Amino acid sequence: MITIKNLLSLEGSPEELNLASDENIEIDGSGLIALPALIDPHVHFRIPGNSEKEDWRCASQAAIFGGVTTVFDMPNNNPPIVDSSSLLKKKEEINRQLDEVDIPLRYHLYLGADKDHFSEIRKCSSLVCGLKIYMGSSTGTLLIDDDQSLDTCFREAAKADLLVAVHAEDECCMRNNLSHYKNESSPAIHSKIRSPEVAQKATEKAISLAAKYKARLIILHMSTAKEVELVRMAKARGLSVYAETSPHHLFLNTKAYDKWGCKVQVNPPIRETRDQEALWKGIKEGVIDTIGTDHAPHTLAEKEQQYGCAPSGIPGIEFLLPLLLNAYNQEKLSLRDIIKLCRKKIELIYRIPSNNDWILVDINKEQNLEDHQLKTKCSWSPYGDMNLKGWPVYTICNGRIFNVERKTKDLVAL
Ligand code: DOR
Ligand code: ZN
Repeated sequence: MITIKNLLSLEGSPEELNLASDENIEIDGSGLIALPALIDPHVHFRIPGNSEKEDWRCASQAAIFGGVTTVFDMPNNNPPIVDSSSLLKKKEEINRQLDEVDIPLRYHLYLGADKDHFSEIRKCSSLVCGLKIYMGSSTGTLLIDDDQSLDTCFREAAKADLLVAVHAEDECCMRNNLSHYKNESSPAIHSKIRSPEVAQKATEKAISLAAKYKARLIILHMSTAKEVELVRMAKARGLSVYAETSPHHLFLNTKAYDKWGCKVQVNPPIRETRDQEALWKGIKEGVIDTIGTDHAPHTLAEKEQQYGCAPSGIPGIEFLLPLLLNAYNQEKLSLRDIIKLCRKKIELIYRIPSNNDWILVDINKEQNLEDHQLKTKCSWSPYGDMNLKGWPVYTICNGRIFNVERKTKDLVAL
C-alpha cells in the first residue's frame, strides 16, 4: 500500500490517499493539495503519420508530467481518421506505444468529418468522443467548406447523438483575406488573414445548424470576444452549445509575434488583449466551459521557416496546469474553476465516466521549464521563459503514482 498523508484539505479533496501496491510506502504530503487530475480534451499526438513531430511514448510522459491523465486526440492524422478501420488501426498503435512506456494514460479519439464518409458518422458514434469538423483548412487535409456537406454532418451527428466539435474558421472568408495580404511576409499577418470575422462567421453558422438539428455542439479553441457573445446567446436560448478555449489564447496575444515569430502561429490565431479579456470574462461567467491545450507540436526546423512555409500549431500540454495554477496565484481564477474547466464540465459534455485520478500540487513552488526539460518530442515551447508559481509534484493515473517533480529526466513511477 502507498499512503500519502497530511495533504492540505480543500473542499471535496482528501487529506490522505491510499493506493494498492506490493510495497509499503508512506509519503508525507505536507504542503501539497490533492486535486482531481486534469483532462485535456484537445491534443494532436500525431499518430499515425507524423511521428517526427510527436508520438504517444513522449506525449504520454508530457501529459503525466503536466498533471493530465486523460486526453482526447484529434483526427487530422496522416491518413486522416475518417472511418472505423482507420480508427481501430490508430487505437492499436496507440496502445502499443503506451504499453512500451508503461503509462496507463486514458484517452478518447475523435472522428474526422469527411465528404466521402458521411455514413461513418453513425457507424463510429459509439467509438469516439465526438465528430471533429474543420470548417476552415488547417494542418492536414480534413475540410468541410460547403454548406450542404456541413448540413449533412450536423444532421447525421444529431441523429447519432454524437457531439459535434468545430474548428470554426470560415474557409471562404479566410481565402478572401489571404488574397488581400498575399504580398505580406510578417508572421503577425496571420492574425489578420484569420481575422476575428473569419471565426465569427463560422461560429454563427455552426450554432444555427446546432439549432436546426438540435445537435450538441462545442466550439473549439474559441479566441474572440464576438464568439463569446454568440455562445452566451446560444446558451440563453437553451441550445446545447458549449465552448472551449486554449492556453495560448488566454496567455499569449499578438505582441508575442515580435519575440516568437512563426512559433506562435496557430489556427485560430492569437488575438488582441481585448479578446483575451473577453475570454477571461467568459470563463468567470461560465460561458466558456472547458480548456483544451490544442497541443499541436511541429519540429523546430518546421517552425523556424518563414511565414507562409511554417505550419500552424503550439505545443502546450506540459504547461496547462502550471499556467492555470499561476493564474490562480494571480487571483485570475479559483482552484474550483480549474477543476470545473479541466475536468468536471468535460466529463459532463463528453459524457465520460469519472475516475479516481488525482494530482498533488505544490501551489507555492516557482520555476520555469526549459526546452531541454520538456517531454514533448518537438522539444520547444513559447512558455519556457515564464517563471510560473504552482506545479504538480505527484500524478496518480489509473492506480499508479508518478513523481513529476522533474528532478530526473525520466518519469519515476513509485
Ligand atoms: O494551429 C493548429 N494546429 N490548428 C489546428 O487546427 C491544427 C493544429 C495542428 O494539427 O497542427
Ligand atoms: Zn486542434
